Amino acid sequence: MTPDELKQHAAVAALRYMEPKLERGSILGIGTGSTVNHFIACLGEQRDLRARLEGTVSSSEESARRLKALGIEVMDLNTAGNVDFYVDGADEANHHLQLIKGGGAALTREKIIAAAAREFVCIADESKLVAVLGRFPLPVEVIPMARSHVARKIAALGGMPVHRDGVTTDNGNQILDVHNLDLRDPREMESQLDQIAGVVCNGLFVRRPANRLLLAGNHGVRTLLPSI
Ligand code: A5P
Repeated sequence: MTPDELKQHAAVAALRYMEPKLERGSILGIGTGSTVNHFIACLGEQRDLRARLEGTVSSSEESARRLKALGIEVMDLNTAGNVDFYVDGADEANHHLQLIKGGGAALTREKIIAAAAREFVCIADESKLVAVLGRFPLPVEVIPMARSHVARKIAALGGMPVHRDGVTTDNGNQILDVHNLDLRDPREMESQLDQIAGVVCNGLFVRRPANRLLLAGNHGVRTLLPSI
């Protein structure tokens, strides 16, 4: 199977999982990326399920555009209040369902919606599962005027930050992709990065991991729950 087919299988599995749990008036959080794009396309075809939704909240302008193009209501999180389910992909996941996200530069809104969600369902192909996070360079969203300052502080933590050239986030900020960070204690690193002045958000999802990881491989979709 191609990586794209695997992503589609993960997306379909997420819909099947949530379908019986979504009550009338539910709010669905929608993430960003190629796996979520499959989820949005599948959602577009589910009339009954869509009729039960009060609306969606989206982690990016791109996903919002795709949802609206299918006639799916996109709400402001301030209006929506609590989010029942948040569905999103990941750049890396470990067995604790801790994630690296932000390859699509949408990490800040993703973290906000994940925080507001009752349940975070992560969908991915099995290439995203790692024993230790950190193979994928860690995205950090920074206020533009603070970029060099933040880069120096990250270098002092042992990382090698690279400015993602030509990318401006939906919030008007910039991205540093950090290579070679030691993420054996990802919770501590998530906090340390958040404390640097000028950092808006970092792509470690450790304090708020996923609740369920649907991982598509050639032999089907596996469900991973956090190991205790
Ligand atoms: C977006 O900023 C990211 O967090 C995505 O969730 C992540 O990059 C996964 O993307 P794909 O589904 O395209 O692999």
